[in-house]
Order: sequence, then C-alpha cells, then structure tokens
Amino acid sequence: MCGIVGYVSSVAPREADHVALDVLLQGLGRLEYRGYDSAGVAVVTPDGQLGARKRAGKLQNLLDEVEAQPLPVAQTGIGHTRWATHGGPTDQNAHPHLADDGKLAVIHNGIIENFAQLRQGLAADGVEFESETDTEIAAHQLAKNHRATGDLTEAMRVTVGQLEGAFTLLAVHADAPDTVVAARLNSPLVIGLGEGENFLGSDVAAFIDHTRRAVEIGQNQIVTITPDSVSIIDADGHAVEGEPFDVDWDPATAEKGGFESFMDKEIHDQPQAVADTLLGRFGLDGRLQLSEMNIDESLLKSVDKIVVIACGTAAYAGQVAKYAIEHWCRIPTEVELAHEFRYRDPVVNEKTLVVAVSQSGETMDTLMAVRHARQQGAKVIAICNTFGSTIPRESDGVLYTHAGPEIAVASTKAFLSQVVACYLLGLYLAQLRGNKYSDEIRVILDELEAIPAKIQRILDETKPQVTQFAQANKDVSSVLFLGRHVGYPVAMEGALKLKELAYIHAEGFAAGELKHGPIALIDEGQMVIIVVPSKKGRDSLHAKVLSNIQEVRARGANTVVIAEEGSTEVEEFASQVFYVPETTTLLAPLLATVPLQVFAMDLATAKNLDVDQPRNLAKSVTVE
Ligand code: G6P
Repeated sequence: MCGIVGYVSSVAPREADHVALDVLLQGLGRLEYRGYDSAGVAVVTPDGQLGARKRAGKLQNLLDEVEAQPLPVAQTGIGHTRWATHGGPTDQNAHPHLADDGKLAVIHNGIIENFAQLRQGLAADGVEFESETDTEIAAHQLAKNHRATGDLTEAMRVTVGQLEGAFTLLAVHADAPDTVVAARLNSPLVIGLGEGENFLGSDVAAFIDHTRRAVEIGQNQIVTITPDSVSIIDADGHAVEGEPFDVDWDPATAEKGGFESFMDKEIHDQPQAVADTLLGRFGLDGRLQLSEMNIDESLLKSVDKIVVIACGTAAYAGQVAKYAIEHWCRIPTEVELAHEFRYRDPVVNEKTLVVAVSQSGETMDTLMAVRHARQQGAKVIAICNTFGSTIPRESDGVLYTHAGPEIAVASTKAFLSQVVACYLLGLYLAQLRGNKYSDEIRVILDELEAIPAKIQRILDETKPQVTQFAQANKDVSSVLFLGRHVGYPVAMEGALKLKELAYIHAEGFAAGELKHGPIALIDEGQMVIIVVPSKKGRDSLHAKVLSNIQEVRARGANTVVIAEEGSTEVEEFASQVFYVPETTTLLAPLLATVPLQVFAMDLATAKNLDVDQPRNLAKSVTVE
C-alpha cells in the first residue's frame, strides 16, 4: 500500500539526461500495484534546486505532467504512488509534500496516528497546510527538526521519535543534493546497492532493473544513502548493520511479456510458479527437506495445534491447508483471518505452530497477528513470496513460494504457490512425525509434480471456452459459487476474484450450507458456479454435490460446473461444463481455481475494467 522509491547517483547528468527522474518513474511503474490513486516525484539538482510534480490518478497522469512541465536535470530524488488513507486522492493530497519553503520534500507510506496533535503544535508555530494528509505534518515536523539540528539524518531520527503509528518516510533536502534519508517503523523499506548509485524501495521491484543486491533493514531504523555510501542507525543514533541478500527475480518476470494484462500473464505463469515452488525440496535420500524452516525438529514433533493466519486470497490458501494438514498429519488445524485472530485473545502457546501466509510479506494485519502469536510463545512459519519482506523476517522460519513478482492486484500465481507450499509443509510434518511412510508421501509428491502440465492443459484447452463464456455473460449481476471440502475455499476464491475485478455481487458458499439459507437467493436465471469434487476416493462428496446442483437447478438456477474430465454425468444438470484434468481430491484446488480466475478476468475485461488495478484495492495493505 503506497509505493516508495528513492535514488541517488554520482553519474553527472548531461543536459536532457534525467538520471534520477528516469529511475524514479521506472521504479514507480514497478510499484504501481501498491497504490494507484495519485503519484508524485521530487528531485534535487547538484546545485541545490528542488523540483516536485504530483498528480491525482494513475501514474500516466504524472508522466504527462512531467512532460508538460519538465523538472530540472538531477541525480537525486524520491517518488511515490499512493493508496489514500488521510485525505482523498487529489493533486493536493498526492505526495511529495514540501516544507521549509519548498526546500524539503517528503513521501510516506503508512499512518501517523498522532498527526492531529502535531498539527496543532505546528499551526501554533505559524505553519500553513496545503493538504489534509498526515504526511504534510511529518514534512513540517522534519523541517522544524532540520532547522534545529542542521542535519537531515539527525532531524529524521528526532522526528521518528515524535511520530506515532506505522510508517516509512523518505526525504530529500535542497541543502543535501546527494542524499536521501529514510526511516522505517512497521512499514516496508529495502535498500538496493549499486555501483556509484544506491536505491530505496518499498520492495525490491522498485530497483530490480538496476541491481539484485539488496539490504534488509530493521524496524525503527534510519537509513542515509549517498551515491557511494549506505549508513543505518537505530533510534538512539548508534550505527547498525543491515542484512544483505540477493534477489533471484529476473526483471523480465515483472514485464507483461506480450500479454494484455499482468493478470493474464500471471495466470499463464502458474505452471512455472507451481514447478518452481516444488523445486529443490528433496535431500539426497529422496526425503522432503524444508531447510529454510529453521525450526527445531523436536519442536515440530511436539506441536499439538496449527493455526494458519492470513488475509484475502492467502486466507483461502490457508483453508485448503487445513484439509490437507489435518488429513495427512492428524494435527488439529485452525484457519483464521489475521485481523480477527489478533484481537480475540486466541489460545496459543509453545506447542502451537502458527503459519502466516502472505504473498507480499507486508500485510499489516498478518504482521500484527505474527507478533501477537510469538509473544504468546508460539513458533511462527511464514509462507511468503517476497524476499526481504517483514513477515518472514519477524517469523521463526520461512517457506518461500517461488512464484516470482506478482504485479496484478488480484492474486493468482501466488495463490497456487501458497497452496503448494502448504501441501509441502503438511507432507513434511507428516514425514517428521511418522504419520505417513515415505513411499506414501512420494506418491503425493509425484502427483504434485504432474500438476504444472495439467494447469498448462487448462490454459490451452479450457481457457478459450471460459473466455467465450465470460464475454457472453458480461452483464450478469450476481453469481453464487458452491463447493464442498477443498472445493469450498475454491468457491470463495472464485467469488472474491469476481468481486475484486468485475465489481459484481458474488458469494462463495459451502454447498452443504445451501439448504440452511442461501438457497433462498436462487431465482430464475441466477448464475451458480459449482466446483464438483472428483468421483474417485470421495465418491460420497461427489454424489452430494450433484444433489446440490439439482436443488438449485430445480429452482431455476443457471448452473455452471467445474468438473473433472470424465465426469460426464454432470452435463445433465449443467448449462455449461468446464472440465479440468484429473487429480486427487486434496490437490484439486490447484486445477479448479484456474477457470474461475479466467472467468473473473475475462468478464471484467469484457466490461472494459482495469483488471490489473481494480478500484479501491491495493496489493499490499500495510495499514490495519
Ligand atoms: C490485499 C490484496 C489481496 C491479498 C491480500 C493479502 O487485500 O488485495 O489480493 O490476497 O491483501 O495479501 P498478502 O500479500 O498478505 O498475501
């Protein structure tokens, strides 16, 4: 939520060579998924002129603005793309915010909770405000401290001590033309290391085109970058070392690669994302090895409860995990939305294993729940897609998904790879605790390894049919999704995708719950999409869902079915069937979800909506 980029370089800019501006705008393009209601940049020239431009709306508006009103040529700057919290998405409220007669510029991600009180103090000093934002307060507070200390880093340190909340701040000052100063308190920030240039970003995507060497920094730390140096201090002003790491993302994976949208590309990335998440998980003895987990085996053996915490799509991955982990490991497993878990005094202790699932690793609700769980003595494993992000950093261990950067706001490949990581965790625990023999585990792993080719088949064969169907139904006003067992979270994920992208009413229900209320919603022509479980192994599930289809069809529903190849008996009850390849019941979400993603994307596209950046959403929600 809000994308932040900072840049300094020693390359002497030629006339017409906007070193800093180009890097900042490129970084903002990479980060636009974090927020896209306004954007802005500030640059400082070597001779100490500060120039800033900002515009409400998408990044393109800012690009038009800097073309119409060029900025001076500069080597230092900061850039921001916003998801509004304090104050609506207007030009005035866009970042950067200026202070010190336009000599200081500040950008910010997060919320400053004591802004009203600080505003009063600043107003008493005679400061006049131009926006409704908490950021502008931080800018003036920083300017005041800068006047008192004469040093931007020290002024930032003092300012952070005066602010309450969760935030990342970046600042440049006309008096320090080769410096960007930043502070981090419970909001994301990473450093990118270059040769004669250095970077700051909300995540590594901000500078992935320039360097893959990065440094993690801790909470409540202040960073100062110049072209040739990076220094970090803590809240008391003591020097601290950051933790360097290498980013294994290829910049090309953050491009659309010929697809209409990032979402379309990411849907097509799924076979690779699943395969990559499975890669390198086996030891020489053929046993599953999850070395990144970093949690004592004896502790994992003694765990008596697992709680999966997550938000949004990641929480549906967690729901799939519950079915798999309980079945394979016989450990009671709960799944809870992180924000509900955090504030209800949950029963967790040293014998609880908490699994935090998060694509971004920055979701504030999930982070707060992680901290709470650890305070209660629980061990926390993060399942995460973003290296150097906060949730893995604050967890005891981590299992990285290897989906590559996910740019579209609605999660697709990250979801499938989260589900795969949950399966790996379940199988690993089963191996460790002796619930399953290694040959039984091998059979499941073999089936998992066959999944990428099966997803590819859906993309090649089923996707065109789904596209046609979505286009023909673009005016549908309400869609219900039904599923049982692991099909239930799939139904909820299908409904969420449609809400997020097409802005139409959609709900996912457990098919068995239908008769207890939701069936009252069924009217002539109501579209109901039903995820039918495999006939094999769980025949009773399959039969029960068929009955559920008949119940809604008898009441006039327009029934659309996702079923396994060979389940031709469903055709009798469906106006449309989309077939997916066979797999075991527990692994079926990896296939059944794909047509639902395509349906939501193509229906939204047919309605001329922006599928990569749906209204009101942000990909990484860094406020509670
Ligand atoms: C936001 C996004 C969702 C995402 C959720 C959790 O709400 O719009 O697509 O599923 O955050 O994000 P995380 O990064 O923690 O997986």
